[in-house]
Amino acid sequence: MKPVGKVLYATGIVAGLVVFFWEDPFIPESLSGARVLLTGASAGIGEQMAYHYARFGAEIVLTARREAVLQKVMEKCLTLGAKKVFYIPADMSFPSEPEKVVQFALQKLGGLDYLVLNHIGRTRFQMWTGDVEYTRWLMQVNFFSYVELTTAALPTLEQSRGSLVVVSSVAGKIPTPFTTSYSATKFALDGFFSSLRHELTMQKSNVSITLCILGLIDTEAALENTRGKVHLRAAPAAEAALAIVRGGATRAHEVFYPWWLHQVCCLWVLSPSNRGQVLRSYYNYSSP
Ligand SMILES: NC(=O)c1ccc[n+]([C@@H]2O[C@H](COP(=O)([O-])OP(=O)(O)OC[C@H]3O[C@@H](n4cnc5c(N)ncnc54)[C@H](OP(=O)(O)O)[C@@H]3O)[C@@H](O)[C@H]2O)c1
Repeated sequence: MKPVGKVLYATGIVAGLVVFFWEDPFIPESLSGARVLLTGASAGIGEQMAYHYARFGAEIVLTARREAVLQKVMEKCLTLGAKKVFYIPADMSFPSEPEKVVQFALQKLGGLDYLVLNHIGRTRFQMWTGDVEYTRWLMQVNFFSYVELTTAALPTLEQSRGSLVVVSSVAGKIPTPFTTSYSATKFALDGFFSSLRHELTMQKSNVSITLCILGLIDTEAALENTRGKVHLRAAPAAEAALAIVRGGATRAHEVFYPWWLHQVCCLWVLSPSNRGQVLRSYYNYSSP
C-alpha cells in the first residue's frame, strides 16, 4: 500500500474508533423538571428553544415584549409536555426590567436551574450611519440587560448548581460588515462572560457558563435583514435551538452552530492578512 493509502487507512480506523466509543454527554432526562428562565422566547430561536425545553419536560418562564405571542408560545409548550409554563412581558431596554423578570421566575418556580439569555433589540443590517443613540440603546438591550439578569440570578443558580446560557453570534468573534453596533454588543458578551467564567472557576463556583456562537439562522428577522446582502445559506432555527439547549445541559464552555464555525473562527485567528478580503466577498455592496 502507498504511504497516502496507509495514512487514509489509519485515519479511517481512528475515526471509526472515536465514533464507536464516543458517548453522547447529553442526558435528555436531566431537563425533566429543570427550571428555566428563557428570554427572547416569543419568536425565532428563542421560541424554538421553548419548544425543546417543553418536550424535555422542563418548567419554563418565558419573556419578551409581546404578551399575545408569549401566550401562544406558552399554550404550545403545554401541549408539548412542559411541566409548568409562565410568561412575563418585559422590555429589556428599561434597566428596571431584568430584576423584575428574575423575581417573577423565582416566585413562580421557586428557583432556577437555567438562565438562557437570547433576546436582541431590532438589528440594522446596514452601513454605519453615525447613530450613536441607537448603539447606546442596543448595548442596553443586547448587553447590559444580560449583565443585569445574570447578577440577579447568580445566587439562585449557585444554590442549584445551575447554568447560564448566553446566545451570541459569529459577529461576536469575527467583525463582519453591516453589523457595527450588533457586533460590538456580541463582542462585549464574550468579554464579560468569558471573564466571569474564569472568576467563577477561581471561586470554585457551581455555576457553568455556555457561550453559543451562531452563524446565519433562518429566523424571519435574520432573513429579512440579510436578503440580497449576503451570499450565505441560513441554517434551521430548530436545530440551532437544540444545539444551544444541549450545550447548556452538558455545561459546555462554548457551542458553535453550525459546528464548522469553530474551524472558521480558528482560521480567522491564524490566517494571513487578506482574510478581510475573503470575508467581504460574502457581502453585497454597491456604492451609491
Ligand atoms: N438569526 C440569526 O441569523 C442569528 C445569527 C447569530 C446569532 N443569533 C442570535 O440568536 C439570538 C436569537 O436571534 P433570533 O434571530 O431568534 O432573533 P428574533 O427572531 O429577532 O427574536 C428576538 C427575540 O427577542 C425579543 N425582543 C426584541 N426586542 C426586545 C426587547 N427590547 N426586550 C425584550 N425582548 C425583546 C423578541 O420578542 P418581542 O418582539 O416580543 O419582544 C424575540 O422574542 C440572538 O441573541 C441573536 O443575536 C441569531
